[in-house]
Amino acid sequence: MAGHDTLLGLDIGTTKVAAVIGGRGAEVKLLGAASVPCEGLRRGTVVDVEETTRAIREAVTKAQRSAGVELTDAWAGITGQHISCMNSRAEIQLPRGNRQVAWTDVERVMAASVRAVSIPPDRQMIHAVSRGFQVDNEPRVRNPVGLSASRLGVETHIVTASRNLVANVARSVEQAGLRIAELVAEPLATADAVLSEDEQELGALLIDVGGGTTDLALFLEGSIAYTGAVPAAGNNVTHDLAIALGITHPAAEQVKLTHGCARAGGVPEEEIIPLPDDEEERTVTRRFVAEIVEARVEETFRLVRQEMGRLGGKWPPPGGAVLTGGGSLLPGIASAAQTVLGCRVRLGRPRVTSGLVHLLESPALATGVGLVYYAHREAETGRAEAAPELRVLPILGRAIAWVRDLFSS
Ligand SMILES: Nc1ncnc2c1ncn2[C@@H]1O[C@H](COP(=O)(O)OP(=O)(O)OP(=O)(O)O)[C@@H](O)[C@H]1O
Ligand SMILES: [Mg+2]
Repeated sequence: MAGHDTLLGLDIGTTKVAAVIGGRGAEVKLLGAASVPCEGLRRGTVVDVEETTRAIREAVTKAQRSAGVELTDAWAGITGQHISCMNSRAEIQLPRGNRQVAWTDVERVMAASVRAVSIPPDRQMIHAVSRGFQVDNEPRVRNPVGLSASRLGVETHIVTASRNLVANVARSVEQAGLRIAELVAEPLATADAVLSEDEQELGALLIDVGGGTTDLALFLEGSIAYTGAVPAAGNNVTHDLAIALGITHPAAEQVKLTHGCARAGGVPEEEIIPLPDDEEERTVTRRFVAEIVEARVEETFRLVRQEMGRLGGKWPPPGGAVLTGGGSLLPGIASAAQTVLGCRVRLGRPRVTSGLVHLLESPALATGVGLVYYAHREAETGRAEAAPELRVLPILGRAIAWVRDLFSS
């Protein structure tokens, strides 16, 4: 990985492919970006490789042109409901005699934690992220390298995905003439761009409301505890409107974008809106539109709440929930989320501190920007042996790459 001065993040989403390019340095600087519509996916899953390849090629060409660079390697996002996760633990004894924990011990214990779970043959591991080490009796040590110990334990967050579905993403990227530097679970990348350090430390849920799926990343005590997705998002809202109003999907999308609101109660009853491209020139109350939108949005957050309930932990996390993704642009959505989830909710945009701020601050680009941040950290850790105290996940990035390579076949 060393030697690459620029990094390409590829968000292959249900409605669009976004390519974001960043330059390496002490801090990543965003240099170029492009987003093009793509119809090759359904609910986060590639169903048309050719169309996806076309969109990737177009997005990358445009992003390269805007950045003035050419790239061959991509950090490609994996999304969809097939993403799932589990947390595992392992412990190893270190040889006697006031011994310091070495990098190889970290690798050994992480590998043991991955071996402790069984991953079905039709699934593959995408990440193994250390959630914290136990050094003798001291829990939650971020970087144990150099500490004296006789026992080393680890808790590991393992993200897996469907082997076939990952292969379809990989094929689309490769057919577009790119090499895959790394496959990254999109919720992790998005969290990287949107959640603050405080939110990660306190514990918070990232909710990326996309077109096909609503991606989730739950942080507790400074590390990732859950990665997943629920199968409802912006496209379902559009679909419901198309059915309820008896109009086409493009017309329904237009109604949603111009008049949509997730809080029906606040919409004056007398507001009338015309249906677009309607031969009979029908009208409808904006309140009615909002009622349809609200029902689906609330249903989506109920699914999210259910998924969190399944985890069995304490709800809500102290840092509340953060909404991002194109779907989060819907007026009233934060209030709807707050009601259903019963916690503080804020709207999140990707943190962009250098370069292209105006262009990239859209919540729809959170994943693309996050992929570049992720790539930047991985590339930096690949160079420095064991970077101490990495700000966010993955703590000890090199161990992750190593463990994954060991188990991917
Ligand atoms: N201003 C807006 N108001 C309401 N909804 C919006 C707005 N802008 C975009 N959307 C919706 O956001 C959704 C697309 O969001 P996004 O680009 O994050 O999805 P994606 O990444 O392509 O899909 P996924 O993450 O599900 O694979 C669409 O359903 C679109 O209608
Ligand atoms: Mg998305």
